[in-house]
Amino acid sequence: MSVDVGAVPRQKPKNFPLYRTVAGFVRDPLRQLERISTEGDGRLIRLDLGASRPYLATHPDHVQQVLRREAENFQRDGVFWRPLRDLMGDSILAEGAEWEHSKRTLQPVFTTRNVNRLTGLMAEAINDAVDALDEPAREGRPIDVLPEMGRIVNETVIKVLFGDKISPADADRLIPTFDQIATSISFRFLLPFVPRAIPLPGDRAFKDAVRVMDEVLFDLVARYRDDPGDGSDIFTALCQAPTEDGGPPDDRWIRDNLLAMFATSTETTTLALTWLWPLLHDHPDVEDRLVAEIDGVVGGARVRPEHLPELPYVTRVVQELLRLYPVGWMFPRMATRPTVLGGVPIEPGDPVLISPFLTHRLASVWDRPLEFDPERFTPENSRKRHRYAYFPFGGGPHQCLGRHVFNVEAQMILTSILSRFRPSLSETISAMPRIGATLRPRQSLEMTLTPVGRER
Ligand code: HEM
Repeated sequence: MSVDVGAVPRQKPKNFPLYRTVAGFVRDPLRQLERISTEGDGRLIRLDLGASRPYLATHPDHVQQVLRREAENFQRDGVFWRPLRDLMGDSILAEGAEWEHSKRTLQPVFTTRNVNRLTGLMAEAINDAVDALDEPAREGRPIDVLPEMGRIVNETVIKVLFGDKISPADADRLIPTFDQIATSISFRFLLPFVPRAIPLPGDRAFKDAVRVMDEVLFDLVARYRDDPGDGSDIFTALCQAPTEDGGPPDDRWIRDNLLAMFATSTETTTLALTWLWPLLHDHPDVEDRLVAEIDGVVGGARVRPEHLPELPYVTRVVQELLRLYPVGWMFPRMATRPTVLGGVPIEPGDPVLISPFLTHRLASVWDRPLEFDPERFTPENSRKRHRYAYFPFGGGPHQCLGRHVFNVEAQMILTSILSRFRPSLSETISAMPRIGATLRPRQSLEMTLTPVGRER
């Protein structure tokens, strides 16, 4: 869809020249972006990053135009997608025909019907993974939150979404390697316009990690491509997908999509669940209410899918968690045709950044935006909001494929842990994440779990 550029009154974007912002970007890029977004207060912003001058769109109307109304015009392309394109090629995270083919292949795994079919298996995997917390809890030994949330999520996702085809030995290589990729890509993600010939910190670690990742993934592809079984999992869907001309899918395409799906299904959920515990630590009233709801519904039983509809407060806590920490915090687009956004003329090739992290923290959109308050998500309060005031899963044609999976999985993990243990953090942590492709805590986080003295 194109816009009649001449008919819309022109405005200037809110400019932030480099000399005013550079020191803040060097010190703490996310806080600096938050400051700029607050000052822009919903107006279209033009950032000056030296080598690149992207627009930043935070107003819900502008977000809706970019992600939905003019989705065809604002594509996942340009310099900001380079690090991901290098890593995952023509996968579900690409654009155009390659993206469409991957999406057609993977969508059946994520329909509400299929996700509902998988929830029993998911509950079992989660309860089993949470069992491993019994021992440190009995011994009063603190757990390191991020790797433990990662372990629970990985065990669940591998069993349920990847059809249990990734063996424990493969997972032991894949998971730390993937972690290395996620952290070492940060500089390339934050400075995408730096040419590849100029070395950046993390480059070598990234290259090493990709080599190991490829060994594991291509080996898995070779093992399963001709005999993936008949499950409704990601592996089977990819191996059985015919190409446009009816031939078998090529190894590289399966590898790219396996990597994209592993990345999107594990890192995001792990980080969201990691941010949960410091929020509960700082809001004991919310934790008490959660515990009371879970005790009343689940009691001493193991969590089951049928419990979820009876746990509305759990749902609200998870929604509010993703308002403050939408771990897919920034997704760029590039205009392909002239248009007007927020009154500002946009030219083909202009990058436009969209960030739920920033929109979710705008005072003109949210009352007391920095306060954690799950009551914002009562059905009545939710109805009053702009559709794009809250978009942790994006919107339009690229809206997150895994949002139902995430909701079910996160709610069951939270419920399973709180039905069995009372958490206590050794200390609170900085509320401001460290940015890369996702939002990671700046320090590690230790938590002691006390078993709730109940016969199980
Ligand atoms: C906290 C959890 C999650 C968050 C915040 C999140 C966020 C997002 C966002 C913002 C996008 C849109 C990107 C864009 O428009 O360019 C997206 C896309 C996607 N997400 Fe998620 N996601 C989460 C969990 C998951 C899970 C659990 C899965 C899979 C099981 C998943 C799979 C995907 C896929 C495949 C896409 C690409 C869809 C497309 O382009 O057609 N995500 N996600």
